[in-house]
Amino acid sequence: MTPSLQTEIEDAAARLKAGELVAFPTETVYGLGADATNVDAVLSIYQTKGRPRFNPLIIHCADLAMAERYGQFSPLARQLAEIFWPGPLSIVVPLRPGHGLADVATAGLDSVALRVPDHAVALELLRAAGRPLAAPSANPSGRLSPTSAAQVRLGFGDAVPVLDGGPCQSGVESTILAVDGDRLIQLRAGALARADIEAATGRSVEQVRDGAAISAPGMLLSHYAPNARMRLDTRPEPGEAYLAFGPAPAFAGTMRNLSEQGDLREAARNLFAMLHELDASGAGTIAVAPIPETGLGEAINDRLRRAAAPRGEASSP
Ligand code: TXA
Ligand code: MG
Repeated sequence: MTPSLQTEIEDAAARLKAGELVAFPTETVYGLGADATNVDAVLSIYQTKGRPRFNPLIIHCADLAMAERYGQFSPLARQLAEIFWPGPLSIVVPLRPGHGLADVATAGLDSVALRVPDHAVALELLRAAGRPLAAPSANPSGRLSPTSAAQVRLGFGDAVPVLDGGPCQSGVESTILAVDGDRLIQLRAGALARADIEAATGRSVEQVRDGAAISAPGMLLSHYAPNARMRLDTRPEPGEAYLAFGPAPAFAGTMRNLSEQGDLREAARNLFAMLHELDASGAGTIAVAPIPETGLGEAINDRLRRAAAPRGEASSP
């Protein structure tokens, strides 16, 4: 690694620690990285990409020890990590209590997708930043994933600094594998072939066909749904808990306001934590005020609709 690249990595790490975004190379595609423990930084990923909804993000770590701070690895999950990391395998495991990740990064799920990328620049950046990085592909939503720094700049111009690590070796995103007890379930085909996982573990890998309802984030492993029933687009009745947005009526029961000012970014930041709090109040039903379907409101409404959906019903993302 040249001294100038080393300096660029240190500069990029400082930006990430300050809550800014940095695009960085991995062996699969370039990622749009943010400090995964910083809610505002993660929200900036969605805004910058123009990603319409919160989709859970892959959390990139420097090594297995770092990943174990955020996910609970069964012996089987650990075996996979030891064999294939660093490498293009994202492993979905239960979140570890007290993990400290921003809940917008995991979209409020109780599982997390973790991976250690096999790229010297990415690994050096992760070590220098000393924190996990949430990173989807570094392209505006709906465009092709970038496999060079030039392609990232085509998508974002000067809006995002890019660490140039040359062209990506694989050019296809990582394989996503959920470990559920002793089952291995491939949620996304990717740069690591299923046959290689089967050969290394001696276990068969179940496939979830792309586009199947079950592949939707959270449909397969337990998805955050409050114990309380939820009613959208409504005012609270006595005995209910209330999730308000904007100016709210006086209410005797447990109430949280996503944003008194009606600021969608603030609302997004508060969403999952407030749902958890209202649920913990023990109310049988949570009434939810209407949220405008614009900007981050699309993501907020998507999550609210999923939380309100009848249990066991698969809705696509
Ligand atoms: O190769 C890659 O994986 C690249 C590079 C930058 O590392 N990243 C990438 O991220 O492809 P992205 O955001 O395009 O894909 C993340 C995928 C989404 O399909 C999401 O649904 C899934 O990971 N995912 C994340 N967390 C999950 C979870 N807890 N359960 C199920 N799926 C999850
Ligand atoms: Mg992508």
